[in-house]
Amino acid sequence: MSVKVVLGTQWGDEGKGKYIDILARESDIVVRYSGGNNAGHTIVKEGVRYALHLVPSGILHSGRKCIIGNGVVIDPEVLTGELDELNSRGIDTDGLLISDRAHLVMPYHRIMDELLEAGRGESSLGTTKRGIGPAYADKAERCGIRMCDLADPALFRQKAEEMIRRKNEILKKVYGHPELDSASITESCLRYGRRLEKYITDTNDYLFHAVAEGRNILLEGAQATFLDLDFGTYPYVTSSNPTAGGACTGSGIAPRYIDEVIGVMKAYTSRVGTGPFPTEQDNETGNLIRELGWEYGTTTGRPRRCGWLDMVMIRYAARTNGLTSLAINHLDTIGKVGKAANGGVIRICTAYIKNGYKVNNFPASLKELAECVPVYEEFKGWDEDISEIKEYAQLPPSAVHFLERIEAEAGVPVKYIGVGKDRENTIIRLI
Ligand code: GDP
Ligand code: IMO
Ligand code: MG
Repeated sequence: MSVKVVLGTQWGDEGKGKYIDILARESDIVVRYSGGNNAGHTIVKEGVRYALHLVPSGILHSGRKCIIGNGVVIDPEVLTGELDELNSRGIDTDGLLISDRAHLVMPYHRIMDELLEAGRGESSLGTTKRGIGPAYADKAERCGIRMCDLADPALFRQKAEEMIRRKNEILKKVYGHPELDSASITESCLRYGRRLEKYITDTNDYLFHAVAEGRNILLEGAQATFLDLDFGTYPYVTSSNPTAGGACTGSGIAPRYIDEVIGVMKAYTSRVGTGPFPTEQDNETGNLIRELGWEYGTTTGRPRRCGWLDMVMIRYAARTNGLTSLAINHLDTIGKVGKAANGGVIRICTAYIKNGYKVNNFPASLKELAECVPVYEEFKGWDEDISEIKEYAQLPPSAVHFLERIEAEAGVPVKYIGVGKDRENTIIRLI
């Protein structure tokens, strides 16, 4: 039996979906534990692209149970649409289970997300406007509506009508927004509820027995360490805990059962939305990384901000999550960046300098972070096309040197290496 967590070490979009898909081959159950449809996980399987937002990325393997855990917030309209889309592409979704404790993203959450972002003006967070923050805020405020409520139409009607009445007061009095039509929202949610009903169950109980029976379980992270509500670049974060602790609270699997924590990273850094980014290259280098790595959001289509790899961040992620191994993606892309630009040079940041002193840890204060200047180490790029390489030993020496420096700086072994988009373009290192 093993319980593995796969999570993001940077600001998201590291390529987690690809590893979930790869590791799902040897798993019985895949559990998504945090976030909502702010996530976008791309899997390229035999040249065919799938973009998943709520359904766990293990769904592409038939016979696996795929669980949406209690830590996830679910927009029933989006989930229904995603299931329809998968079914229309011939993917069987019968293995899905949805936690009865998961909270709903309601239409008023989406509207509040828009209004809150507009109200922040210059200091907007750049959210995905999917209602994620407002849904988690209601969960913490103890007025959220859960999947177990949706499965009980009379109870759901009562709760939804009461919440819409309360939200309408805020919308009208604070924002001058037209009132929402309670009956039509309630009835459309119930229609989605009827479609989703067969999947809703006590997944905590299911997982408790699965652990006891020694099944192989994969916990699928969305977002990433630096978007974590507690450990990220607050307030430029999401509203859940994508870090390893969140894998336990968001699935119901206790910490003592976790065997491995795999941190997914890119060979450079990207970020969507606003917020600090010490190694950002808002210049030709950043544009080159974006074009070579095709860094455009899976969920919103926004161009991603790009910059050099920041090992201060990776060390922090390794410590915060107790990483047991690293999966590094886009080794192909960074090789091309080193080849095409900057006189064949790739950079990684190994520390920051602040007021003349070396800083090895990622500061909490964004004001302090803004004063940090990255210290870079330079590497040679490589000319070869590495996308078809399957063995670590076949990688060009300059690529091996680059990976070994990352490993030494992180203090965590590199087990998986992405050399192309397709899940087949992956080197699995025997360590
Ligand atoms: P996730 O949210 O962490 O699952 O990542 P996304 O799917 O949002 O973004 C990762 C992007 O990088 C996707 O477009 C992937 O197809 C692509 N990708 C992942 N690994 C590699 C790699 O090793 N090389 C290249 N060129 N693309 C990759
Ligand atoms: P995956 O799982 C990248 C970012 C948004 C914004 C901030 C808050 O694909 O890695 P939210 O809508 O969550 O309130 O937005 O978080 N964000 C992501 N960035 N990848 C993601 O997910 C993200 N999910 C949220 O861009 O900056
Ligand atoms: Mg993504």
